[in-house]
Amino acid sequence: MQAKNQKIVVLGTGGTIAGESNSENEGLSYQAAQRSIHDLMQAVAGKSQALPEALIGFQFDTEQVSQIDSKDMDFDIWHRLALRCDHWLSQADVHSVVITHGTDTLEETAYFLSQVVQHNKPIVLTCAMRPANFKDADGPQNMRDALNAASQLEGQGVWLVAAGEIHHSQYVQKVHPTRLNAFDSGEWGPVAEMRDDQIYWRQGALENCPQNQWNEGMTIQALALPTEWPWVEIITNHVHATAKHVEVLLDAGVDGLVVAGTGNGSICQVTKEALLKAQTRGVEICLASRCNQGPVVQTPNHVFQIAKELNPSKARVALILNILSKKQSHNN
Ligand code: SIN
Repeated sequence: MQAKNQKIVVLGTGGTIAGESNSENEGLSYQAAQRSIHDLMQAVAGKSQALPEALIGFQFDTEQVSQIDSKDMDFDIWHRLALRCDHWLSQADVHSVVITHGTDTLEETAYFLSQVVQHNKPIVLTCAMRPANFKDADGPQNMRDALNAASQLEGQGVWLVAAGEIHHSQYVQKVHPTRLNAFDSGEWGPVAEMRDDQIYWRQGALENCPQNQWNEGMTIQALALPTEWPWVEIITNHVHATAKHVEVLLDAGVDGLVVAGTGNGSICQVTKEALLKAQTRGVEICLASRCNQGPVVQTPNHVFQIAKELNPSKARVALILNILSKKQSHNN
Protein backbone atom coordinates (compact mmCIF):
# COMPACT_ATOMS: atom_id res chain seq x y z
CA MET A 1 0.00 0.00 0.00
CA GLN A 2 1.35 3.41 -1.00
CA ALA A 3 1.94 5.87 1.83
CA LYS A 4 -0.54 8.71 1.51
CA ASN A 5 1.34 11.11 3.76
CA GLN A 6 -1.99 12.59 4.77
CA LYS A 7 -3.26 13.52 8.14
CA ILE A 8 -6.42 12.84 10.09
CA VAL A 9 -6.82 15.29 12.95
CA VAL A 10 -8.70 14.04 16.00
CA LEU A 11 -10.35 16.64 18.23
CA GLY A 12 -11.58 15.70 21.71
CA THR A 13 -14.55 17.41 23.35
CA GLY A 14 -15.41 14.97 26.19
CA GLY A 15 -18.52 12.78 26.56
CA THR A 16 -19.03 9.21 27.74
CA ILE A 17 -16.42 8.01 25.27
CA ALA A 18 -13.94 9.78 27.57
CA GLY A 19 -15.88 8.88 30.73
CA GLU A 20 -14.95 6.78 33.75
CA SER A 21 -17.09 4.92 36.27
CA ASN A 22 -16.16 3.50 39.68
CA SER A 23 -16.00 -0.05 38.40
CA GLU A 24 -15.72 -1.86 35.10
CA ASN A 25 -19.25 -3.24 35.65
CA GLU A 26 -20.89 0.16 36.08
CA GLY A 27 -22.06 1.45 32.71
CA LEU A 28 -24.79 3.94 33.60
CA SER A 29 -23.49 5.91 36.57
CA TYR A 30 -20.18 7.57 35.69
CA GLN A 31 -18.39 10.85 35.10
CA ALA A 32 -18.21 11.87 31.45
CA ALA A 33 -15.12 13.62 30.06
CA GLN A 34 -12.28 12.20 32.18
CA ARG A 35 -9.81 10.82 29.62
CA SER A 36 -7.80 12.92 27.18
CA ILE A 37 -8.07 12.53 23.42
CA HIS A 38 -4.47 11.27 23.50
CA ASP A 39 -5.55 8.42 25.85
CA LEU A 40 -8.54 7.57 23.63
CA MET A 41 -6.24 7.26 20.61
CA GLN A 42 -3.89 5.04 22.66
CA ALA A 43 -6.85 2.74 23.42
CA VAL A 44 -7.44 2.28 19.67
CA ALA A 45 -3.77 1.62 19.03
CA GLY A 46 -3.77 -0.75 22.04
CA LYS A 47 -6.48 -3.01 20.60
CA SER A 48 -4.99 -6.38 19.69
CA GLN A 49 -6.04 -6.08 16.02
CA ALA A 50 -3.79 -4.36 13.51
CA LEU A 51 -5.12 -0.98 12.33
CA PRO A 52 -7.55 -1.14 9.37
CA GLU A 53 -5.71 -1.27 6.06
CA ALA A 54 -7.30 1.98 4.89
CA LEU A 55 -5.42 3.82 7.68
CA ILE A 56 -1.96 2.73 6.55
CA GLY A 57 0.03 5.77 5.49
CA PHE A 58 -2.06 8.26 7.49
CA GLN A 59 -0.61 10.34 10.28
CA PHE A 60 -2.72 11.42 13.24
CA ASP A 61 -2.69 14.65 15.22
CA THR A 62 -4.79 15.12 18.34
CA GLU A 63 -6.09 18.22 20.07
CA GLN A 64 -8.25 18.62 23.18
CA VAL A 65 -10.80 21.34 22.34
CA SER A 66 -12.92 20.90 25.47
CA GLN A 67 -13.50 18.32 28.20
CA ILE A 68 -17.22 18.35 29.00
CA ASP A 69 -20.38 16.30 29.29
CA SER A 70 -22.18 17.34 26.11
CA LYS A 71 -25.31 18.37 28.04
CA ASP A 72 -23.14 21.40 28.93
CA MET A 73 -22.11 22.19 25.35
CA ASP A 74 -22.30 25.92 24.71
CA PHE A 75 -21.80 28.50 21.98
CA ASP A 76 -18.23 29.36 23.08
CA ILE A 77 -17.11 25.77 22.66
CA TRP A 78 -19.00 25.46 19.35
CA HIS A 79 -17.25 28.56 18.10
CA ARG A 80 -13.81 27.25 19.15
CA LEU A 81 -14.51 23.78 17.74
CA ALA A 82 -15.66 25.14 14.38
CA LEU A 83 -12.58 27.40 14.19
CA ARG A 84 -10.30 24.42 14.88
CA CYS A 85 -12.07 22.34 12.19
CA ASP A 86 -11.71 25.26 9.81
CA HIS A 87 -8.03 25.66 10.66
CA TRP A 88 -7.18 21.99 10.18
CA LEU A 89 -9.26 21.42 7.05
CA SER A 90 -7.54 24.41 5.44
CA GLN A 91 -4.20 22.53 5.60
CA ALA A 92 -3.36 20.80 2.33
CA ASP A 93 -2.11 17.63 4.04
CA VAL A 94 -5.20 17.14 6.21
CA HIS A 95 -7.68 14.69 4.72
CA SER A 96 -10.39 14.91 7.40
CA VAL A 97 -11.23 15.71 11.01
CA VAL A 98 -12.63 13.25 13.58
CA ILE A 99 -14.33 14.61 16.70
CA THR A 100 -15.11 12.68 19.88
CA HIS A 101 -18.31 14.03 21.48
CA GLY A 102 -20.94 13.12 24.05
CA THR A 103 -24.03 11.49 22.57
CA ASP A 104 -26.59 13.82 24.18
CA THR A 105 -26.16 16.88 21.97
CA LEU A 106 -24.05 15.36 19.22
CA GLU A 107 -26.69 15.84 16.52
CA GLU A 108 -26.84 19.58 17.22
CA THR A 109 -23.06 19.97 17.01
CA ALA A 110 -22.94 17.88 13.83
CA TYR A 111 -25.61 20.02 12.18
CA PHE A 112 -23.97 23.26 13.34
CA LEU A 113 -20.59 22.23 11.92
CA SER A 114 -22.24 21.20 8.63
CA GLN A 115 -23.43 24.79 8.19
CA VAL A 116 -20.43 26.84 9.32
CA VAL A 117 -17.35 24.80 8.37
CA GLN A 118 -17.44 25.21 4.63
CA HIS A 119 -14.74 22.89 3.27
CA ASN A 120 -14.94 20.10 0.74
CA LYS A 121 -13.48 17.65 3.25
CA PRO A 122 -15.29 15.35 5.69
CA ILE A 123 -15.83 15.75 9.42
CA VAL A 124 -16.66 12.55 11.32
CA LEU A 125 -18.06 12.59 14.84
CA THR A 126 -17.97 9.61 17.12
CA CYS A 127 -19.07 8.82 20.67
CA ALA A 128 -19.87 5.99 23.04
CA MET A 129 -22.71 4.87 25.27
CA ARG A 130 -20.42 3.21 27.83
CA PRO A 131 -17.58 4.81 29.79
CA ALA A 132 -14.01 4.11 28.74
CA ASN A 133 -13.22 1.78 31.67
CA PHE A 134 -16.40 -0.34 31.25
CA LYS A 135 -15.56 -3.99 30.59
CA ASP A 136 -17.22 -3.92 27.14
CA ALA A 137 -16.60 -0.27 26.33
CA ASP A 138 -17.88 0.62 22.84
CA GLY A 139 -15.63 3.69 22.48
CA PRO A 140 -12.46 2.07 21.09
CA GLN A 141 -14.36 0.25 18.30
CA ASN A 142 -16.39 3.36 17.46
CA MET A 143 -13.18 5.39 17.31
CA ARG A 144 -11.51 2.79 15.10
CA ASP A 145 -14.53 2.80 12.77
CA ALA A 146 -14.62 6.61 12.75
CA LEU A 147 -10.94 6.84 11.77
CA ASN A 148 -11.47 4.19 9.13
CA ALA A 149 -14.49 6.02 7.69
CA ALA A 150 -12.68 9.38 7.91
CA SER A 151 -9.86 7.96 5.77
CA GLN A 152 -12.29 6.82 3.07
CA LEU A 153 -14.97 9.51 2.95
CA GLU A 154 -14.34 12.26 0.40
CA GLY A 155 -15.71 15.75 -0.09
CA GLN A 156 -18.04 17.79 2.09
CA GLY A 157 -20.23 16.24 4.75
CA VAL A 158 -20.49 15.86 8.51
CA TRP A 159 -21.07 12.29 9.64
CA LEU A 160 -21.65 10.25 12.78
CA VAL A 161 -19.96 6.87 13.06
CA ALA A 162 -21.20 4.74 15.97
CA ALA A 163 -22.44 1.21 16.70
CA GLY A 164 -21.27 0.00 13.28
CA GLU A 165 -23.24 2.58 11.31
CA ILE A 166 -22.54 5.80 9.40
CA HIS A 167 -25.23 8.50 9.57
CA HIS A 168 -25.55 11.89 7.87
CA SER A 169 -25.70 14.99 10.09
CA GLN A 170 -28.92 16.23 8.49
CA TYR A 171 -30.93 13.19 9.56
CA VAL A 172 -29.27 11.59 12.55
CA GLN A 173 -30.70 11.89 16.04
CA LYS A 174 -30.32 10.19 19.37
CA VAL A 175 -33.41 8.04 19.86
CA HIS A 176 -32.59 5.94 22.92
CA PRO A 177 -31.23 6.98 26.32
CA THR A 178 -29.25 3.80 27.10
CA ARG A 179 -29.13 1.38 24.15
CA LEU A 180 -25.73 0.78 22.50
CA ASN A 181 -27.05 1.74 19.08
CA ALA A 182 -28.67 4.92 20.35
CA PHE A 183 -28.81 6.76 16.99
CA ASP A 184 -31.19 6.58 14.10
CA SER A 185 -31.77 8.46 10.85
CA GLY A 186 -35.50 7.71 10.61
CA GLU A 187 -36.84 6.94 7.18
CA TRP A 188 -33.52 7.99 5.57
CA GLY A 189 -31.60 5.32 7.49
CA PRO A 190 -27.82 5.08 7.95
CA VAL A 191 -25.81 5.53 4.75
CA ALA A 192 -23.57 2.57 5.52
CA GLU A 193 -22.73 -0.19 7.94
CA MET A 194 -19.25 -1.03 9.17
CA ARG A 195 -18.26 -4.61 9.87
CA ASP A 196 -14.77 -6.05 10.24
CA ASP A 197 -13.16 -2.80 9.10
CA GLN A 198 -15.18 -2.77 5.86
CA ILE A 199 -17.72 -0.13 4.87
CA TYR A 200 -20.91 -1.49 3.28
CA TRP A 201 -22.65 1.44 1.56
CA ARG A 202 -26.41 1.31 1.16
CA GLN A 203 -27.23 1.56 -2.51
CA GLY A 204 -27.82 5.17 -3.58
CA ALA A 205 -27.49 6.41 0.02
CA LEU A 206 -24.50 8.71 -0.53
CA GLU A 207 -26.04 10.29 -3.64
CA ASN A 208 -29.24 10.98 -1.67
CA CYS A 209 -27.45 12.91 1.06
CA PRO A 210 -28.02 16.66 0.87
CA GLN A 211 -25.15 18.74 -0.49
CA ASN A 212 -25.06 21.91 1.52
CA GLN A 213 -25.95 25.06 -0.32
CA TRP A 214 -23.65 27.01 1.96
CA ASN A 215 -24.43 30.54 2.94
CA GLU A 216 -21.06 32.30 2.75
CA GLY A 217 -22.18 34.78 5.39
CA MET A 218 -22.36 31.85 7.80
CA THR A 219 -18.74 30.62 7.69
CA ILE A 220 -17.31 30.43 11.16
CA GLN A 221 -14.86 33.17 10.18
CA ALA A 222 -17.71 35.46 9.10
CA LEU A 223 -20.02 34.81 12.08
CA ALA A 224 -20.23 37.28 14.94
CA LEU A 225 -18.75 36.21 18.28
CA PRO A 226 -20.99 33.95 20.43
CA THR A 227 -21.95 36.85 22.74
CA GLU A 228 -23.88 38.25 19.76
CA TRP A 229 -25.74 35.04 18.92
CA PRO A 230 -29.51 35.30 19.23
CA TRP A 231 -31.64 33.79 21.98
CA VAL A 232 -33.81 31.06 20.47
CA GLU A 233 -36.01 28.68 22.50
CA ILE A 234 -38.02 25.57 21.65
CA ILE A 235 -41.63 25.24 22.77
CA THR A 236 -43.88 22.21 22.30
CA ASN A 237 -47.52 21.89 21.35
CA HIS A 238 -49.43 19.44 23.56
CA VAL A 239 -52.81 18.87 25.16
CA HIS A 240 -54.10 21.92 27.07
CA ALA A 241 -51.33 24.12 25.66
CA THR A 242 -51.45 27.77 26.66
CA ALA A 243 -49.87 31.01 25.45
CA LYS A 244 -48.18 31.78 28.77
CA HIS A 245 -44.70 30.57 27.78
CA VAL A 246 -44.80 32.59 24.56
CA GLU A 247 -45.86 35.73 26.46
CA VAL A 248 -43.15 35.27 29.13
CA LEU A 249 -40.47 34.68 26.49
CA LEU A 250 -41.64 37.62 24.40
CA ASP A 251 -41.49 39.94 27.41
CA ALA A 252 -38.04 38.61 28.27
CA GLY A 253 -36.72 39.53 24.81
CA VAL A 254 -36.48 36.20 23.00
CA ASP A 255 -35.24 36.53 19.38
CA GLY A 256 -36.64 33.33 17.93
CA LEU A 257 -38.94 30.43 18.74
CA VAL A 258 -38.98 26.94 17.28
CA VAL A 259 -42.30 25.21 17.76
CA ALA A 260 -42.23 21.43 18.08
CA GLY A 261 -45.73 21.13 16.68
CA THR A 262 -47.96 18.10 16.90
CA GLY A 263 -48.15 15.86 13.80
CA ASN A 264 -47.49 17.81 10.61
CA GLY A 265 -46.63 20.91 12.64
CA SER A 266 -50.04 21.76 14.10
CA ILE A 267 -50.31 24.31 16.93
CA CYS A 268 -53.36 24.90 19.13
CA GLN A 269 -55.24 28.12 18.40
CA VAL A 270 -54.35 30.01 21.56
CA THR A 271 -50.59 29.40 21.16
CA LYS A 272 -50.75 30.17 17.44
CA GLU A 273 -52.31 33.58 18.14
CA ALA A 274 -49.60 34.38 20.69
CA LEU A 275 -46.95 33.32 18.18
CA LEU A 276 -48.46 35.55 15.47
CA LYS A 277 -48.33 38.44 17.92
CA ALA A 278 -44.70 37.62 18.74
CA GLN A 279 -43.92 37.53 15.03
CA THR A 280 -45.34 41.01 14.49
CA ARG A 281 -43.00 42.14 17.28
CA GLY A 282 -39.98 40.80 15.37
CA VAL A 283 -39.59 37.32 16.86
CA GLU A 284 -38.64 34.76 14.19
CA ILE A 285 -40.83 31.65 14.34
CA CYS A 286 -39.95 28.28 12.82
CA LEU A 287 -42.18 25.25 12.81
CA ALA A 288 -40.92 21.68 13.29
CA SER A 289 -42.67 18.52 14.45
CA ARG A 290 -42.46 16.66 17.72
CA CYS A 291 -42.84 13.41 15.69
CA ASN A 292 -39.43 11.81 15.54
CA GLN A 293 -39.55 10.82 11.89
CA GLY A 294 -40.35 12.42 8.57
CA PRO A 295 -40.36 16.02 7.34
CA VAL A 296 -43.08 18.61 8.01
CA VAL A 297 -44.86 19.00 4.67
CA GLN A 298 -45.94 22.57 3.85
CA THR A 299 -49.73 23.12 3.55
CA PRO A 300 -51.85 26.31 3.34
CA ASN A 301 -52.53 25.91 7.10
CA HIS A 302 -48.90 26.64 7.91
CA VAL A 303 -48.48 30.32 8.61
CA PHE A 304 -44.87 30.11 9.82
CA GLN A 305 -41.69 29.05 8.03
CA ILE A 306 -41.19 25.29 8.36
CA ALA A 307 -38.12 23.31 9.32
CA LYS A 308 -38.72 20.56 6.74
CA GLU A 309 -36.77 17.47 7.86
CA LEU A 310 -34.90 19.14 10.72
CA ASN A 311 -35.92 18.01 14.18
CA PRO A 312 -36.67 20.81 16.69
CA SER A 313 -33.11 20.86 18.11
CA LYS A 314 -31.53 21.23 14.68
CA ALA A 315 -34.23 23.66 13.56
CA ARG A 316 -33.14 25.82 16.51
CA VAL A 317 -29.54 25.78 15.24
CA ALA A 318 -30.76 26.70 11.74
CA LEU A 319 -32.87 29.54 13.14
CA ILE A 320 -29.96 30.91 15.21
CA LEU A 321 -27.79 30.97 12.09
CA ASN A 322 -30.55 32.52 9.95
CA ILE A 323 -31.17 35.31 12.43
CA LEU A 324 -27.42 35.97 12.67
CA SER A 325 -26.96 36.02 8.93
CA LYS A 326 -29.94 38.40 8.45
CA LYS A 327 -28.54 40.70 11.16
CA GLN A 328 -25.10 40.65 9.56
CA SER A 329 -26.35 41.42 6.04
CA HIS A 330 -28.51 44.21 7.50
CA ASN A 331 -25.41 45.71 9.19
CA ASN A 332 -23.24 45.49 6.05
C1 SIN B 1 -22.60 13.29 27.05
O1 SIN B 1 -23.42 13.55 26.16
O2 SIN B 1 -21.53 13.91 27.17
C2 SIN B 1 -22.88 12.23 28.04
C3 SIN B 1 -23.66 11.11 27.48
C4 SIN B 1 -22.95 10.34 26.42
O3 SIN B 1 -21.91 10.69 25.88
O4 SIN B 1 -23.49 9.25 26.09
